[in-house]
Amino acid sequence: MEAQQIKRTTAKSRGFYVKMKLLQQQNGKHGRPHEKSCFFRYYKWLLWLSLTLYFFSPYLLTTTTTTTTNDDDSKNDNKNNINPTFLSKTRVVSSSKSTFASRALIESTASDSRLQQPLHDQEGVLSLSKDLKIYVYELPPEYNADWLNNERCSNHLFASEVAIHRALLTSDVRTFDPYEADFFFVPVYVSCNFSTVNGFPAIGHARSLLSSAVQLISSDYPFWNRSLGSDHVFVASHDFGACFHTMENVAIADGIPGFLKRSIILQTFGVQGKHPCQDVENVLIPPYVSPESVRTTLERAPANGRRDIFAFFRGKMEVHPKNVSGRFYSKRVRTAIWRKYGGDRKFYLQRHRFAGYQSEIVRSVFCLCPLGWAPWSPRLVESVVLGCVPVIIADDIRLPFPEAVRWPEISLTVAERDVGKLGMILEHVAATNLTAIQKNLMDPFVRRALLFNNQIEQGDATWQVLSALAIKLNRSYIRSRDSTQ
Ligand SMILES: *[C@@H]1O[C@H](CO)[C@@H](O)[C@H](O)[C@H]1NC(C)=O
Ligand SMILES: *[C@@H]1O[C@H](CO)[C@@H](O)[C@H](O)[C@H]1NC(C)=O
Ligand SMILES: *[C@@H]1O[C@H](CO)[C@@H](O)[C@H](O)[C@H]1NC(C)=O
Ligand SMILES: *[C@@H]1O[C@H](CO)[C@@H](O)[C@H](O)[C@H]1NC(C)=O
Ligand SMILES: *[C@@H]1O[C@H](CO)[C@@H](O)[C@H](O)[C@H]1NC(C)=O
Repeated sequence: MEAQQIKRTTAKSRGFYVKMKLLQQQNGKHGRPHEKSCFFRYYKWLLWLSLTLYFFSPYLLTTTTTTTTNDDDSKNDNKNNINPTFLSKTRVVSSSKSTFASRALIESTASDSRLQQPLHDQEGVLSLSKDLKIYVYELPPEYNADWLNNERCSNHLFASEVAIHRALLTSDVRTFDPYEADFFFVPVYVSCNFSTVNGFPAIGHARSLLSSAVQLISSDYPFWNRSLGSDHVFVASHDFGACFHTMENVAIADGIPGFLKRSIILQTFGVQGKHPCQDVENVLIPPYVSPESVRTTLERAPANGRRDIFAFFRGKMEVHPKNVSGRFYSKRVRTAIWRKYGGDRKFYLQRHRFAGYQSEIVRSVFCLCPLGWAPWSPRLVESVVLGCVPVIIADDIRLPFPEAVRWPEISLTVAERDVGKLGMILEHVAATNLTAIQKNLMDPFVRRALLFNNQIEQGDATWQVLSALAIKLNRSYIRSRDSTQ
């Protein structure tokens, strides 16, 4: 009966593929060894071939794999439409490649002491990531690809929902066999409905879009029902995570939609302690900053160049913040900064938007990162990657990837109530440990961890997410899976 339901998948060829897999599974343990012995002779040869290709031409490898597909719908850029007769061969190629690649990852990681250190405490992380397999759902374009018609969709503040999806599509942890997947990634872009009035992302439709995606995958595939979504991964990259609202009180009142409560949410929102909008299995991720924009800025002015601005902030600073249902923007912290330091020569404070603001960050010693409506801001990432010491003014903020990025060593934290003493605090640091902080900030490992690349790079933000997911994997489950193979 499951096969019947599977047949209803939207893409015909995928439906067929999944059905094939299902039949294979139903044949149980007899299917696999037979398949293995059949292709064992080819295996060595294919392993050799794929290693060669892997070394000498990643491009060729992709092309080779693609040419074995019998694919009349070539814009579906993947191997799901593989002609069934080539299925096993192709799977051997791709799995040997992924095994090799993760070994390579482990070896190079072990030989790089800088990388080894942050992961040292988490015994087994690396061997887990070797086994990590993620199935990426293919959803109709209205859930994701259509939104890319607006170029901003893939490079604005919330674009990690796009970047993580892209990185997974070409990554070694991706599996095309949902039955061997540890996690299921549901690629829905909810942040790209930009308001025609102010250009901000309107996320009012997020809940219904996600709910309809869950409806679709839970009726077309058996995996959602199997786990009630607990091995399914979503990105919620805006202000208050899976609560999908920019105002905290409304976000809390709305709460996390029931259908997401058992899933894993990759979210930028994080605070210490309990909060209704992080009361879900989650991985804290950095806000999206385009690696290209950073590269361009650093080509014009290197991070180790002259810094003639002592303290920098550009952004919304209301002189008289409005009382919005009992709350004030930035809890009036930005107002206090503006009032106290607006006329201070050492503070370069700007209230208007300026597209070239990264060139100002790279000229600054301290970059203020006060809360907005939510505690986090893109300044956290931009400061670090451009070598400006982030001054975090957001009580109780929880910061991304604390194992990889030792925030206390590369940033300053100033309590919201101490914002009036900011000048004194910064002067004191400048006279004492500024050089030490700046030195820590130059660590390339730290900067790499905060940027999402279109293709996963070792140690980058998506890599950190995968590492966090690997830790979440139930180890005994992994072990039992391995022992039955
Ligand atoms: C985009 O947001 C507007 C409100 O700002 C809403 O009316 C519209 O339905 C949304 N579009 C989609 C496709 O959800
Ligand atoms: C999953 O459960 C829902 C609700 O119980 C049901 O409508 C749907 O058909 C189920 N999906 C599968 C693939 O069995
Ligand atoms: C803010 O407005 C609310 C009503 O929306 C009111 O109860 C509260 O006293 C106001 N707070 C301040 C500090 O003005
Ligand atoms: C630098 O000094 C400040 C103020 O004394 C202190 O809060 C901070 O932890 C120090 N940072 C480092 C990395 O030493
Ligand atoms: C881990 O997996 C085992 C075997 O599948 C299961 O019995 C156990 O309850 C799981 N533990 C957790 C914390 O999910």
